[in-house]
Amino acid sequence: MRFFVNYRIVMQLHIQQLNITVPNQEKPLLSIPDFQLNSGEHLAILGPSGSGKTTLLNAITGLIPVSPNQVLWDNTDIHQLSASQCDNWRFAHIGLIMQNFHLTTGLTALENVLLPYSFRHWTIPTAVKQRAYALLEKMDFLAPDRLVESLSRGEMQRVAIARALLSKPKVIIADEPTASLDQKNGQIITALLKDLATQEKCSLLVATHDLRLADSLALRIYLQDGQIQYKDD
Ligand SMILES: Nc1ncnc2c1ncn2[C@@H]1O[C@H](COP(=O)(O)OP(=O)(O)OP(=O)(O)O)[C@@H](O)[C@H]1O
Ligand SMILES: [Mg+2]
Repeated sequence: MRFFVNYRIVMQLHIQQLNITVPNQEKPLLSIPDFQLNSGEHLAILGPSGSGKTTLLNAITGLIPVSPNQVLWDNTDIHQLSASQCDNWRFAHIGLIMQNFHLTTGLTALENVLLPYSFRHWTIPTAVKQRAYALLEKMDFLAPDRLVESLSRGEMQRVAIARALLSKPKVIIADEPTASLDQKNGQIITALLKDLATQEKCSLLVATHDLRLADSLALRIYLQDGQIQYKDD
């Protein structure tokens, strides 16, 4: 008899004995004995400047090296992958929104949204272009042909979010997505991120100083000197 297993795409994060040190520094940058985030959960990572928020995001996305078996996504140890395999894994699974957007000047908003995809494919199917337009539209960004350097920071943030979501990642990771936005735009971006993550059934991990943003997510951890001081849900 054959059993048919209904494979669901899940992305569970499991951190165990994560310890990141730098030479000539006794204290680790990050020391997390055990932490788990289930698929679809929304987490805020709080903590003062220098507490390790960005280091944690970099560690779980494979952007900095970590010892084997300390960061697992659905039992995949991304730090055992080759650099190009890890890049491909990140592209396939994670929508990354970095602190300073990392948009490419000289290109339009739409071209920026499509750029990571175009690095990996010879041609861009119409359906992908349509998704790019639709994501921008969903965020009330109606100027896909404008050069990114002419955009406001709130508009740039929308472009960065659309770019992160283009490939339908199962996990959205954002580093200080409301930093340097005014309160109104901060609230708009917060609502957009949450709504898009919910609609697309993504996990959402956000490093932030913005308590309003943190309060709007279901789970919070607070980092201090690279350690989780408390969890709150
Ligand atoms: N490659 C590195 N070598 C040495 N120290 C580093 C390195 N990367 C980060 N650090 C240090 O690790 C600590 C945590 O930095 P991190 O950028 O993760 O903090 P953060 O919580 O994101 O701060 P912020 O809120 O200002 O963005 C800081 O003291 C930083 O100087
Ligand atoms: Mg940071």
